[in-house]
Amino acid sequence: MGFDKDFIFGLATSAGQIEGGAKDGGRGESIWDVFAAKPGKIHNGTTPAVACDSYHRFDRDLQNLKFTGVDSYRMSISWSRVMPDGKGQLNQTGVDYYKRCFDALLEAGIKPNVTLYHWDLPQALEDKNGWVNRDTIKYFAEYADKMFSVFGDTVPLWSTVNEPIAAYVGYALGGFAPGRTNEKEGNQARHNILVAHGAAVDAFRASGAAGDIGIVIDIWKRHALRDTEEDRAIMTDQDERNWKFYTDPVLGGSYSDYILSHLASEGTLMDIYDGDLELMHRPIDFYGLNVYNRVPVTADKKTEADFSQGGNFLNNKTEYYPKAIYDAIRLVNELYKLDIPIYITENGTYSIGPEPRGKDKTIQDDDRIKYVSGFLYWLEKAIDEGYDVRGYYLWSLMDNFEWTAGYNYRFGVFETDFDTLECKPKKSALWYRDFIKKVKEK
Ligand code: NOJ
Repeated sequence: MGFDKDFIFGLATSAGQIEGGAKDGGRGESIWDVFAAKPGKIHNGTTPAVACDSYHRFDRDLQNLKFTGVDSYRMSISWSRVMPDGKGQLNQTGVDYYKRCFDALLEAGIKPNVTLYHWDLPQALEDKNGWVNRDTIKYFAEYADKMFSVFGDTVPLWSTVNEPIAAYVGYALGGFAPGRTNEKEGNQARHNILVAHGAAVDAFRASGAAGDIGIVIDIWKRHALRDTEEDRAIMTDQDERNWKFYTDPVLGGSYSDYILSHLASEGTLMDIYDGDLELMHRPIDFYGLNVYNRVPVTADKKTEADFSQGGNFLNNKTEYYPKAIYDAIRLVNELYKLDIPIYITENGTYSIGPEPRGKDKTIQDDDRIKYVSGFLYWLEKAIDEGYDVRGYYLWSLMDNFEWTAGYNYRFGVFETDFDTLECKPKKSALWYRDFIKKVKEK
Protein backbone atom coordinates (compact mmCIF):
# COMPACT_ATOMS: atom_id res chain seq x y z
CA MET A 1 0.00 0.00 0.00
CA GLY A 2 1.00 3.64 -0.01
CA PHE A 3 2.59 5.33 -3.00
CA ASP A 4 2.86 3.04 -5.97
CA LYS A 5 5.48 3.19 -8.69
CA ASP A 6 3.26 5.25 -10.98
CA PHE A 7 2.70 7.94 -8.41
CA ILE A 8 4.12 11.20 -9.74
CA PHE A 9 6.65 13.02 -7.60
CA GLY A 10 7.52 16.48 -8.78
CA LEU A 11 8.91 19.89 -8.05
CA ALA A 12 7.19 23.17 -8.86
CA THR A 13 7.97 26.76 -9.85
CA SER A 14 6.31 29.53 -11.83
CA ALA A 15 7.54 31.79 -14.62
CA GLY A 16 7.18 35.10 -12.78
CA GLN A 17 9.17 33.77 -9.84
CA ILE A 18 12.15 32.20 -11.60
CA GLU A 19 12.58 33.29 -15.20
CA GLY A 20 13.96 36.80 -15.02
CA GLY A 21 14.94 37.86 -18.55
CA ALA A 22 12.19 40.41 -18.07
CA LYS A 23 13.08 42.44 -21.12
CA ASP A 24 14.70 39.73 -23.20
CA GLY A 25 13.50 38.01 -26.33
CA GLY A 26 10.67 40.45 -26.94
CA ARG A 27 8.86 39.79 -23.68
CA GLY A 28 6.20 42.32 -22.63
CA GLU A 29 5.80 43.54 -19.05
CA SER A 30 3.58 41.71 -16.61
CA ILE A 31 1.64 43.29 -13.76
CA TRP A 32 4.30 42.00 -11.36
CA ASP A 33 7.08 43.91 -13.13
CA VAL A 34 5.08 47.11 -12.78
CA PHE A 35 3.89 46.45 -9.22
CA ALA A 36 7.39 45.53 -8.02
CA ALA A 37 8.79 48.79 -9.38
CA LYS A 38 6.53 50.77 -7.04
CA PRO A 39 8.22 51.78 -3.79
CA GLY A 40 7.31 49.80 -0.70
CA LYS A 41 5.52 46.93 -2.40
CA ILE A 42 8.21 44.22 -2.25
CA HIS A 43 10.50 43.31 0.64
CA ASN A 44 13.79 45.23 0.27
CA GLY A 45 12.60 46.82 -2.96
CA THR A 46 13.62 43.78 -5.00
CA THR A 47 12.05 42.88 -8.36
CA PRO A 48 11.57 39.75 -10.50
CA ALA A 49 13.70 41.24 -13.33
CA VAL A 50 16.46 38.64 -12.93
CA ALA A 51 15.10 36.23 -10.29
CA CYS A 52 16.79 32.82 -10.83
CA ASP A 53 17.51 33.71 -14.45
CA SER A 54 15.88 30.50 -15.67
CA TYR A 55 15.22 32.18 -18.99
CA HIS A 56 18.95 31.87 -19.64
CA ARG A 57 19.70 28.89 -17.40
CA PHE A 58 17.08 26.27 -18.01
CA ASP A 59 19.81 23.71 -18.39
CA ARG A 60 20.88 24.31 -14.78
CA ASP A 61 17.28 23.70 -13.66
CA LEU A 62 17.06 20.56 -15.74
CA GLN A 63 20.25 19.16 -14.21
CA ASN A 64 18.85 19.80 -10.74
CA LEU A 65 15.55 18.16 -11.59
CA LYS A 66 17.39 15.12 -12.90
CA PHE A 67 19.48 15.03 -9.75
CA THR A 68 16.35 14.58 -7.62
CA GLY A 69 14.87 11.93 -9.90
CA VAL A 70 11.44 13.59 -10.11
CA ASP A 71 8.85 12.29 -12.56
CA SER A 72 7.43 15.68 -13.39
CA TYR A 73 8.15 19.40 -13.30
CA ARG A 74 5.39 21.92 -12.73
CA MET A 75 6.19 25.25 -14.39
CA SER A 76 4.21 28.03 -15.98
CA ILE A 77 4.21 29.99 -19.20
CA SER A 78 4.68 33.73 -18.99
CA TRP A 79 1.75 35.06 -21.03
CA SER A 80 3.58 38.30 -21.84
CA ARG A 81 6.63 36.38 -23.07
CA VAL A 82 4.62 34.55 -25.70
CA MET A 83 2.14 37.40 -26.32
CA PRO A 84 3.76 40.68 -25.30
CA ASP A 85 0.47 42.60 -25.69
CA GLY A 86 -1.62 39.85 -24.15
CA LYS A 87 -3.39 39.33 -27.46
CA GLY A 88 -2.68 39.13 -31.16
CA GLN A 89 0.51 37.76 -32.63
CA LEU A 90 2.66 35.17 -30.89
CA ASN A 91 6.23 36.15 -30.04
CA GLN A 92 8.13 33.29 -31.63
CA THR A 93 11.26 33.81 -29.51
CA GLY A 94 9.19 33.27 -26.38
CA VAL A 95 7.45 30.23 -27.83
CA ASP A 96 10.83 28.75 -28.78
CA TYR A 97 12.06 29.12 -25.22
CA TYR A 98 9.21 26.98 -23.87
CA LYS A 99 9.58 24.53 -26.72
CA ARG A 100 13.19 23.97 -25.71
CA CYS A 101 12.16 23.54 -22.07
CA PHE A 102 9.39 21.04 -22.75
CA ASP A 103 11.44 19.04 -25.25
CA ALA A 104 14.39 18.85 -22.88
CA LEU A 105 12.15 17.73 -20.01
CA LEU A 106 10.52 15.02 -22.10
CA GLU A 107 13.87 13.86 -23.34
CA ALA A 108 14.95 13.49 -19.71
CA GLY A 109 11.80 11.51 -18.93
CA ILE A 110 10.31 14.35 -16.86
CA LYS A 111 6.68 15.20 -17.62
CA PRO A 112 6.00 18.92 -18.00
CA ASN A 113 2.98 20.02 -15.99
CA VAL A 114 2.22 23.45 -17.37
CA THR A 115 0.19 26.28 -15.87
CA LEU A 116 -1.10 28.92 -18.26
CA TYR A 117 -1.72 31.61 -15.69
CA HIS A 118 0.34 31.91 -12.54
CA TRP A 119 -0.55 35.51 -11.57
CA ASP A 120 1.45 37.33 -14.25
CA LEU A 121 -1.14 39.14 -16.36
CA PRO A 122 0.36 41.10 -19.27
CA GLN A 123 0.47 44.76 -18.24
CA ALA A 124 -1.00 45.63 -21.65
CA LEU A 125 -4.22 43.94 -20.52
CA GLU A 126 -4.12 45.55 -17.09
CA ASP A 127 -4.05 48.85 -18.98
CA LYS A 128 -7.46 47.82 -20.31
CA ASN A 129 -8.78 47.17 -16.77
CA GLY A 130 -7.25 43.73 -16.33
CA TRP A 131 -9.32 40.95 -14.83
CA VAL A 132 -12.17 43.34 -14.09
CA ASN A 133 -12.71 43.66 -17.82
CA ARG A 134 -14.81 40.84 -19.26
CA ASP A 135 -12.80 40.98 -22.49
CA THR A 136 -9.87 39.50 -20.57
CA ILE A 137 -11.81 36.21 -20.54
CA LYS A 138 -11.74 36.20 -24.32
CA TYR A 139 -8.07 37.19 -24.45
CA PHE A 140 -7.19 34.39 -22.04
CA ALA A 141 -9.07 31.86 -24.15
CA GLU A 142 -7.19 33.07 -27.24
CA TYR A 143 -3.86 32.78 -25.47
CA ALA A 144 -4.78 29.31 -24.21
CA ASP A 145 -5.93 28.24 -27.65
CA LYS A 146 -2.61 29.32 -29.17
CA MET A 147 -0.65 27.44 -26.52
CA PHE A 148 -2.70 24.29 -27.16
CA SER A 149 -2.09 24.53 -30.88
CA VAL A 150 1.67 24.88 -30.39
CA PHE A 151 2.18 22.54 -27.42
CA GLY A 152 -0.95 20.38 -27.39
CA ASP A 153 0.98 17.38 -28.69
CA THR A 154 3.88 17.85 -26.28
CA VAL A 155 2.51 18.73 -22.86
CA PRO A 156 0.66 15.95 -21.01
CA LEU A 157 -0.69 17.99 -18.06
CA TRP A 158 -2.14 21.49 -18.16
CA SER A 159 -3.59 23.81 -15.56
CA THR A 160 -5.57 26.84 -16.63
CA VAL A 161 -5.17 29.05 -13.58
CA ASN A 162 -3.10 28.83 -10.42
CA GLU A 163 -4.71 29.99 -7.15
CA PRO A 164 -7.40 32.35 -8.48
CA ILE A 165 -7.54 33.97 -5.04
CA ALA A 166 -4.51 36.00 -6.14
CA ALA A 167 -6.83 38.04 -8.38
CA TYR A 168 -8.87 39.01 -5.32
CA VAL A 169 -5.74 39.90 -3.35
CA GLY A 170 -4.56 41.98 -6.30
CA TYR A 171 -7.81 43.83 -7.05
CA ALA A 172 -9.60 44.02 -3.70
CA LEU A 173 -6.88 43.99 -1.06
CA GLY A 174 -3.98 45.61 -2.92
CA GLY A 175 -1.58 43.05 -1.48
CA PHE A 176 -0.57 41.60 -4.85
CA ALA A 177 -0.22 43.01 -8.35
CA PRO A 178 -1.85 45.08 -9.70
CA GLY A 179 -2.31 46.57 -6.22
CA ARG A 180 -5.90 47.78 -6.53
CA THR A 181 -8.26 48.10 -3.58
CA ASN A 182 -11.87 47.87 -4.63
CA GLU A 183 -13.90 45.06 -3.09
CA LYS A 184 -16.51 44.85 -5.82
CA GLU A 185 -13.87 44.89 -8.54
CA GLY A 186 -11.98 42.23 -6.62
CA ASN A 187 -15.08 40.04 -6.69
CA GLN A 188 -15.55 40.72 -10.38
CA ALA A 189 -11.90 39.91 -11.08
CA ARG A 190 -12.06 36.57 -9.27
CA HIS A 191 -15.32 35.69 -10.95
CA ASN A 192 -13.96 36.57 -14.38
CA ILE A 193 -10.85 34.50 -13.86
CA LEU A 194 -12.97 31.44 -13.08
CA VAL A 195 -15.02 32.02 -16.22
CA ALA A 196 -11.76 32.40 -18.14
CA HIS A 197 -10.70 29.03 -16.77
CA GLY A 198 -13.82 27.46 -18.30
CA ALA A 199 -13.27 29.22 -21.61
CA ALA A 200 -9.74 27.80 -21.71
CA VAL A 201 -11.06 24.30 -20.99
CA ASP A 202 -13.41 24.70 -23.97
CA ALA A 203 -10.46 25.77 -26.13
CA PHE A 204 -8.54 22.72 -24.93
CA ARG A 205 -11.33 20.31 -25.86
CA ALA A 206 -11.81 21.99 -29.23
CA SER A 207 -8.07 21.74 -29.95
CA GLY A 208 -8.16 17.97 -29.65
CA ALA A 209 -4.99 18.05 -27.50
CA ALA A 210 -4.18 14.69 -26.02
CA GLY A 211 -3.30 15.60 -22.43
CA ASP A 212 -5.30 16.36 -19.31
CA ILE A 213 -6.44 19.74 -18.08
CA GLY A 214 -7.41 21.02 -14.64
CA ILE A 215 -7.22 24.04 -12.38
CA VAL A 216 -5.20 24.70 -9.23
CA ILE A 217 -7.08 25.99 -6.18
CA ASP A 218 -5.51 26.30 -2.74
CA ILE A 219 -7.32 25.23 0.40
CA TRP A 220 -6.51 26.81 3.74
CA LYS A 221 -9.15 25.20 5.94
CA ARG A 222 -10.12 27.35 8.88
CA HIS A 223 -10.17 25.68 12.25
CA ALA A 224 -12.23 27.12 15.12
CA LEU A 225 -10.03 27.09 18.21
CA ARG A 226 -13.05 27.11 20.53
CA ASP A 227 -16.20 25.12 20.07
CA THR A 228 -18.33 28.25 20.30
CA GLU A 229 -20.83 29.83 17.97
CA GLU A 230 -18.62 32.90 17.72
CA ASP A 231 -15.54 31.00 16.53
CA ARG A 232 -17.54 28.73 14.27
CA ALA A 233 -19.04 31.79 12.58
CA ILE A 234 -15.57 33.18 11.87
CA MET A 235 -14.51 29.81 10.52
CA THR A 236 -17.52 29.58 8.20
CA ASP A 237 -17.16 33.13 6.97
CA GLN A 238 -13.49 32.72 6.13
CA ASP A 239 -13.94 29.29 4.57
CA GLU A 240 -16.67 30.70 2.33
CA ARG A 241 -14.70 33.74 1.22
CA ASN A 242 -11.23 32.27 0.99
CA TRP A 243 -11.45 28.99 -0.83
CA LYS A 244 -15.08 27.89 -1.27
CA PHE A 245 -15.59 30.97 -3.44
CA TYR A 246 -13.50 29.11 -6.03
CA THR A 247 -14.10 25.43 -5.36
CA ASP A 248 -17.91 25.80 -5.10
CA PRO A 249 -18.51 26.97 -8.69
CA VAL A 250 -15.64 25.02 -10.25
CA LEU A 251 -16.15 21.67 -8.54
CA GLY A 252 -19.73 22.06 -7.32
CA GLY A 253 -21.44 24.07 -10.07
CA SER A 254 -22.63 27.13 -8.12
CA TYR A 255 -21.67 29.79 -5.63
CA SER A 256 -23.01 29.13 -2.16
CA ASP A 257 -26.09 30.94 -0.89
CA TYR A 258 -23.84 32.30 1.83
CA ILE A 259 -21.53 34.05 -0.65
CA LEU A 260 -24.33 35.32 -2.87
CA SER A 261 -26.36 36.73 0.01
CA HIS A 262 -23.41 38.23 1.88
CA LEU A 263 -21.89 39.92 -1.15
CA ALA A 264 -25.31 41.20 -2.20
CA SER A 265 -25.97 42.70 1.21
CA GLU A 266 -22.49 44.21 1.26
CA GLY A 267 -23.13 45.79 -2.15
CA THR A 268 -20.14 44.03 -3.70
CA LEU A 269 -21.77 41.25 -5.68
CA MET A 270 -20.14 40.82 -9.09
CA ASP A 271 -22.06 40.67 -12.36
CA ILE A 272 -22.77 37.08 -13.28
CA TYR A 273 -23.82 36.52 -16.88
CA ASP A 274 -25.92 33.74 -18.36
CA GLY A 275 -23.71 30.78 -19.05
CA ASP A 276 -20.99 31.78 -16.57
CA LEU A 277 -21.84 29.07 -14.06
CA GLU A 278 -21.82 26.40 -16.77
CA LEU A 279 -18.42 27.58 -18.01
CA MET A 280 -16.89 27.62 -14.54
CA HIS A 281 -18.15 24.08 -14.03
CA ARG A 282 -16.86 22.59 -17.27
CA PRO A 283 -15.72 19.00 -16.71
CA ILE A 284 -12.01 18.90 -15.98
CA ASP A 285 -9.62 15.96 -15.85
CA PHE A 286 -8.09 16.62 -12.46
CA TYR A 287 -8.19 19.00 -9.55
CA GLY A 288 -4.87 20.57 -8.57
CA LEU A 289 -4.82 21.09 -4.82
CA ASN A 290 -2.30 23.43 -3.23
CA VAL A 291 -2.16 22.82 0.48
CA TYR A 292 0.25 24.33 2.96
CA ASN A 293 -1.52 24.51 6.29
CA ARG A 294 -4.74 24.95 8.20
CA VAL A 295 -5.64 28.34 9.66
CA PRO A 296 -6.69 28.42 13.32
CA VAL A 297 -9.24 31.15 14.07
CA THR A 298 -10.82 32.56 17.21
CA ALA A 299 -12.38 35.78 18.44
CA ASP A 300 -10.76 35.34 21.82
CA LYS A 301 -7.36 36.92 22.44
CA LYS A 302 -6.46 34.62 25.32
CA THR A 303 -7.29 31.48 23.35
CA GLU A 304 -5.14 32.82 20.55
CA ALA A 305 -2.22 33.51 22.89
CA ASP A 306 -2.52 30.07 24.50
CA PHE A 307 -2.53 28.46 21.10
CA SER A 308 0.53 30.29 19.87
CA GLN A 309 2.38 29.25 23.02
CA GLY A 310 1.18 25.67 23.20
CA GLY A 311 0.91 24.73 19.54
CA ASN A 312 3.43 22.88 17.43
CA PHE A 313 5.35 25.41 15.37
CA LEU A 314 8.15 25.46 12.84
CA ASN A 315 11.04 27.94 13.02
CA ASN A 316 9.18 30.31 10.70
CA LYS A 317 6.40 30.42 13.33
CA THR A 318 3.83 28.67 11.15
CA GLU A 319 1.97 25.79 12.73
CA TYR A 320 3.25 22.30 11.96
CA TYR A 321 0.04 20.54 11.04
CA PRO A 322 0.75 17.96 8.33
CA LYS A 323 -2.71 16.43 8.65
CA ALA A 324 -3.93 19.51 6.72
CA ILE A 325 -3.31 17.60 3.48
CA TYR A 326 -5.43 14.63 4.56
CA ASP A 327 -8.19 16.90 5.84
CA ALA A 328 -8.29 18.89 2.58
CA ILE A 329 -8.41 15.78 0.40
CA ARG A 330 -11.27 14.33 2.41
CA LEU A 331 -13.10 17.62 2.57
CA VAL A 332 -13.22 18.25 -1.19
CA ASN A 333 -14.21 14.66 -1.80
CA GLU A 334 -17.05 14.95 0.67
CA LEU A 335 -18.22 18.39 -0.43
CA TYR A 336 -18.19 17.77 -4.17
CA LYS A 337 -18.33 13.98 -4.52
CA LEU A 338 -15.24 14.24 -6.71
CA ASP A 339 -15.02 11.81 -9.57
CA ILE A 340 -11.70 13.11 -10.89
CA PRO A 341 -8.21 12.55 -9.49
CA ILE A 342 -6.36 15.07 -7.38
CA TYR A 343 -2.80 16.19 -7.87
CA ILE A 344 -1.17 17.96 -4.96
CA THR A 345 0.21 20.74 -7.14
CA GLU A 346 2.01 22.53 -4.30
CA ASN A 347 3.15 21.85 -0.78
CA GLY A 348 6.23 23.13 0.99
CA THR A 349 7.62 25.47 3.60
CA TYR A 350 10.00 28.40 3.88
CA SER A 351 12.66 29.95 5.97
CA ILE A 352 12.68 33.65 6.62
CA GLY A 353 16.17 34.71 5.64
CA PRO A 354 19.18 32.38 5.56
CA GLU A 355 19.03 28.76 6.69
CA PRO A 356 21.69 27.02 8.81
CA ARG A 357 24.69 25.44 7.09
CA GLY A 358 26.57 22.30 8.07
CA LYS A 359 30.35 21.87 8.16
CA ASP A 360 30.36 20.94 4.48
CA LYS A 361 28.46 24.19 3.79
CA THR A 362 25.29 22.38 2.71
CA ILE A 363 22.12 23.98 4.00
CA GLN A 364 20.66 21.87 6.80
CA ASP A 365 16.96 22.53 6.29
CA ASP A 366 15.72 19.98 8.79
CA ASP A 367 12.50 21.89 9.30
CA ARG A 368 11.65 21.45 5.62
CA ILE A 369 12.38 17.73 5.80
CA LYS A 370 10.18 17.39 8.87
CA TYR A 371 7.40 19.35 7.18
CA VAL A 372 7.47 17.47 3.87
CA SER A 373 7.79 14.04 5.44
CA GLY A 374 4.85 14.81 7.72
CA PHE A 375 2.71 15.86 4.78
CA LEU A 376 3.75 12.83 2.73
CA TYR A 377 2.83 10.58 5.66
CA TRP A 378 -0.70 12.01 5.74
CA LEU A 379 -0.96 11.98 1.96
CA GLU A 380 -0.10 8.29 1.94
CA LYS A 381 -2.76 7.70 4.55
CA ALA A 382 -5.38 9.36 2.34
CA ILE A 383 -4.27 7.23 -0.61
CA ASP A 384 -4.44 4.08 1.52
CA GLU A 385 -8.01 4.99 2.42
CA GLY A 386 -8.86 5.01 -1.27
CA TYR A 387 -8.69 8.68 -2.22
CA ASP A 388 -7.54 9.10 -5.80
CA VAL A 389 -4.41 11.24 -5.61
CA ARG A 390 -1.99 10.82 -8.51
CA GLY A 391 0.87 13.15 -7.76
CA TYR A 392 2.68 15.44 -5.34
CA TYR A 393 4.72 18.54 -6.26
CA LEU A 394 7.01 20.04 -3.70
CA TRP A 395 7.18 23.83 -3.80
CA SER A 396 9.81 24.72 -4.82
CA LEU A 397 12.70 23.53 -6.95
CA MET A 398 14.79 26.49 -5.75
CA ASP A 399 14.67 29.68 -3.74
CA ASN A 400 12.96 32.27 -5.91
CA PHE A 401 10.97 35.49 -6.05
CA GLU A 402 8.34 34.94 -3.36
CA TRP A 403 6.08 37.77 -4.54
CA THR A 404 5.84 40.55 -1.94
CA ALA A 405 8.33 38.74 0.33
CA GLY A 406 10.89 39.19 -2.44
CA TYR A 407 13.90 36.93 -1.99
CA ASN A 408 13.59 36.83 1.77
CA TYR A 409 11.29 33.80 2.04
CA ARG A 410 13.15 30.74 0.80
CA PHE A 411 11.07 27.82 -0.35
CA GLY A 412 13.64 25.89 -2.41
CA VAL A 413 15.09 22.43 -1.97
CA PHE A 414 17.98 23.99 -3.90
CA GLU A 415 19.51 27.19 -2.61
CA THR A 416 19.90 29.96 -5.13
CA ASP A 417 22.93 32.18 -4.89
CA PHE A 418 21.44 35.37 -6.27
CA ASP A 419 24.89 36.80 -7.06
CA THR A 420 26.31 33.90 -9.05
CA LEU A 421 22.92 32.36 -9.94
CA GLU A 422 24.22 28.95 -9.01
CA CYS A 423 21.77 26.55 -7.37
CA LYS A 424 23.03 23.95 -4.92
CA PRO A 425 21.11 21.13 -3.28
CA LYS A 426 20.04 21.62 0.32
CA LYS A 427 19.80 18.61 2.63
CA SER A 428 16.10 18.39 1.68
CA ALA A 429 16.95 17.87 -2.02
CA LEU A 430 19.01 14.82 -1.07
CA TRP A 431 16.27 13.64 1.25
CA TYR A 432 13.57 14.04 -1.42
CA ARG A 433 15.75 12.22 -3.97
CA ASP A 434 16.18 9.28 -1.58
CA PHE A 435 12.49 9.25 -0.71
CA ILE A 436 11.50 9.06 -4.38
CA LYS A 437 14.11 6.40 -5.07
CA LYS A 438 12.76 4.19 -2.30
CA VAL A 439 9.22 4.39 -3.66
CA LYS A 440 10.38 3.56 -7.18
CA GLU A 441 12.40 0.59 -5.93
CA LYS A 442 9.51 -0.91 -3.98
C1 NOJ B 1 1.34 29.70 -3.74
C2 NOJ B 1 1.74 30.12 -5.12
O1 NOJ B 1 1.13 29.37 -6.11
C3 NOJ B 1 3.23 30.22 -5.32
O2 NOJ B 1 3.44 31.12 -6.36
C4 NOJ B 1 3.90 30.64 -4.02
O3 NOJ B 1 5.26 30.91 -4.20
C5 NOJ B 1 3.72 29.53 -3.02
N1 NOJ B 1 2.31 29.23 -2.85
C6 NOJ B 1 4.36 29.82 -1.67
O4 NOJ B 1 3.81 30.93 -1.08
